[in-house]
Amino acid sequence: MNQDSQDKANVTGRKKQLMLGIDLGTSKIAVCSERGSKAMFRSVVGYPRDIIGSHLLKGDKAIGEEVLEKRSFLDAYYPLEEGVIKEESEGVIAALKDLLQHAVSLAKPEKGDEICAVIGAPAGATYSNKEPILKAAREFMKVALVVSEPFMVAYGMNKLNRAIIVDIGAGTTDICALTGTIPSAEDQSTILKGGDYIDKVLNALLLETYPEIQLTPQLARKIKEKYAFVGEIKESKMVKFRENGKPKDYDAANEIKAACETLILPIVEQIENLLLQFDPDDQEEALKNIYLAGNGSRIRGLDTAIIEALSEYGEVKVSLIDDPDYAGCTGALKLATDIPLEHWSQVGDQL
Ligand SMILES: Nc1ncnc2c1ncn2[C@@H]1O[C@H](COP(=O)(O)OP(=O)(O)O)[C@@H](O)[C@H]1O
Ligand SMILES: [Mg+2]
Repeated sequence: MNQDSQDKANVTGRKKQLMLGIDLGTSKIAVCSERGSKAMFRSVVGYPRDIIGSHLLKGDKAIGEEVLEKRSFLDAYYPLEEGVIKEESEGVIAALKDLLQHAVSLAKPEKGDEICAVIGAPAGATYSNKEPILKAAREFMKVALVVSEPFMVAYGMNKLNRAIIVDIGAGTTDICALTGTIPSAEDQSTILKGGDYIDKVLNALLLETYPEIQLTPQLARKIKEKYAFVGEIKESKMVKFRENGKPKDYDAANEIKAACETLILPIVEQIENLLLQFDPDDQEEALKNIYLAGNGSRIRGLDTAIIEALSEYGEVKVSLIDDPDYAGCTGALKLATDIPLEHWSQVGDQL
């Protein structure tokens, strides 16, 4: 089909394109469509372990929260868990495809829609990371583009010059310097530590202080999500743990603070590195435009701690973005609808 007849087809609705923004987060996948649908689910897919599992599930796979509920008879896959797709096996690509297909179905496409999606992946994602995502998308999308997650956030907020985005997710922290051009590999970095790492450290520290308690990283995560903070301890953080099955109150303030503070240094080091990507004249302005995205950024006092750690650089301003759940996918959708399809390949890696 030439461009003319393609345009005509779009207008007459015989072949409609549906633009989507998808945020492939390490813990959650968010999707939004140009027709207004919006949805989010856990980045996990589960397959029945055996014939009994298939019978109980009444299907061949489950996605998101359902996998956690039915984990006793499902094998769960988290292909994006650590921000790096470790192997490019058929199984991993199939799991990625199931997750992407589920995201597309939640965007409620109409029959005959051609799916065109901008997909956000961790920033430092090397080509080897993008390739399996594109392979998975290729099987059912018309066009797919993989861009870095913090770049999508930046695009959505229109912070494309003299700004730094720090996106703290579960598996990774992705940092991107916005210098007025499409970010190159040098403008971005991924730290393979995020909220999950804090959970592990908190779990270990609490067990060290209170060896008698029963604890798992999942419980540590719940405690963190309620109390996360860095900086001065102003009050105790009382938590109920079980000791030999009996509940008892413990103060977890020291351990929560110490666990959350482990992310400060790696983040500050990467901000310092990426600052050098800016023209010296622009560095002062960039330091006043640091934005924290991702749910991991909701640690109380993190903004102030980063400002303090960068005090030698002069005035520094760190702000929290508004909607850490959907900022990435709304930015991706904005990119998908702003930029004509024929120019997508200039923005990231395409099918
Ligand atoms: N209030 C909170 N304080 C600190 N961390 C939080 C809070 N709420 C959620 N988190 C953490 O944020 C991480 C998930 O970040 P998110 O941006 O949603 O994920 P993704 O990795 O999918 O991009 C998890 O480690 C979660 O425990
Ligand atoms: Mg994210």
